[in-house]
Amino acid sequence: MKKEKILFFDTKPYDQCFFDGANKKHGYDIKYFNGHLNHDTSAFTEGHNVVCAFVNDIVDRQVIETVVKNGIKLIALRSAGYNNVDLKAAYGKIHVARVPGYSPYAVAEHATALMLSLNRKTHRAYYRTRDGNFSINGLIGFDLHGKTAGVIGTGRIGRCFITILKGFGMKILAYDVYPDKEYARSAEITYVDLPGLYAKSDIISLHCPLNKDTHHLIDKESINQMKEGVILINTGRGGLVKTQDLIDGLKSGKIGAAGLDVYEEESEYFFEDFSTSMINDDILARLLTFPNVLITSHQGFFTKEALTNIAETTLANIKEYFDGGFLKNEICYKCDKECIKKQKKICF
Ligand code: NAI
Repeated sequence: MKKEKILFFDTKPYDQCFFDGANKKHGYDIKYFNGHLNHDTSAFTEGHNVVCAFVNDIVDRQVIETVVKNGIKLIALRSAGYNNVDLKAAYGKIHVARVPGYSPYAVAEHATALMLSLNRKTHRAYYRTRDGNFSINGLIGFDLHGKTAGVIGTGRIGRCFITILKGFGMKILAYDVYPDKEYARSAEITYVDLPGLYAKSDIISLHCPLNKDTHHLIDKESINQMKEGVILINTGRGGLVKTQDLIDGLKSGKIGAAGLDVYEEESEYFFEDFSTSMINDDILARLLTFPNVLITSHQGFFTKEALTNIAETTLANIKEYFDGGFLKNEICYKCDKECIKKQKKICF
């Protein structure tokens, strides 16, 4: 039996561990490559049929043209987000699949961890007590109970996050381009417009995809509409926030704290160890100086359950494609309009 040849990009030991486990069932010929997929590395795809890419790999028109020329039939993303793929360039030439909703709990729980740490300052208390400093000066937080959270994007992750916050006794204001009235009624939340959400929320959390409408959604103009001292959580994508405007908001005190699992220019730094070298990105370096900023390195997805699901679903997508059936996790640039809603036919 012919074994599909899959070239993985941007892999770490934990990826290999989970994918090797899931591949026992399939027996695909997998090669793991540590580097990113980009203009320089796309040539390595020759001799393979599938490329498996991650969040900071570049899948633009040039890369797509190279991999198509090299005989790649499918780009299997091992992520839910697909803002790094030029779907228009791919349309009609190569199929693209993703792993939607592999564990919305993982990301929602991580957003909660950032929020709780920043509010009660456990990230700072940890260092104090280890240093024998048992003072609690400056560590005061506020009760979440009765406060208002603004959730932007009420898809899989946004809804899990809302469930958690309801457990704290918070009021929820939500914004989504496709508000779901039935969900709002059953979850006892209120959909509002963005100005309404900005004006009333004590905590704002971003759970919408990055696209041309949401790029720099959080900028000077939106920050100006927010409550003084608001906590901003971003586990969505870095490009949702204009970082320089966030820094200005932090300096003025308008933003009380920021929990960031993603950063606009993360691709050079995130997932890598720079502890013995220099950070040349002055904006990232500035962000790291704030005591009220907590940055994690795109680890929202990083739970055993999520990694298991990502590996199993990615390989199942590949099997589905080569079995010639309907590729249910396919994405294409028309998806929002047609394919996803119809869910009956392959995109092209
Ligand atoms: P989803 O597709 O289930 O939900 C996204 C929601 O955002 C939908 O309800 C959609 O209608 C809404 N939306 C679309 N455009 C919008 C706009 N302009 N304004 C407001 N809402 C809008 O996606 P899911 O699974 O909840 O993931 C959300 C995002 O989280 C992903 O796009 C991805 O960027 C990010 N993510 C981050 C991870 C991490 O490790 N930090 C891991 C997985 C996803």
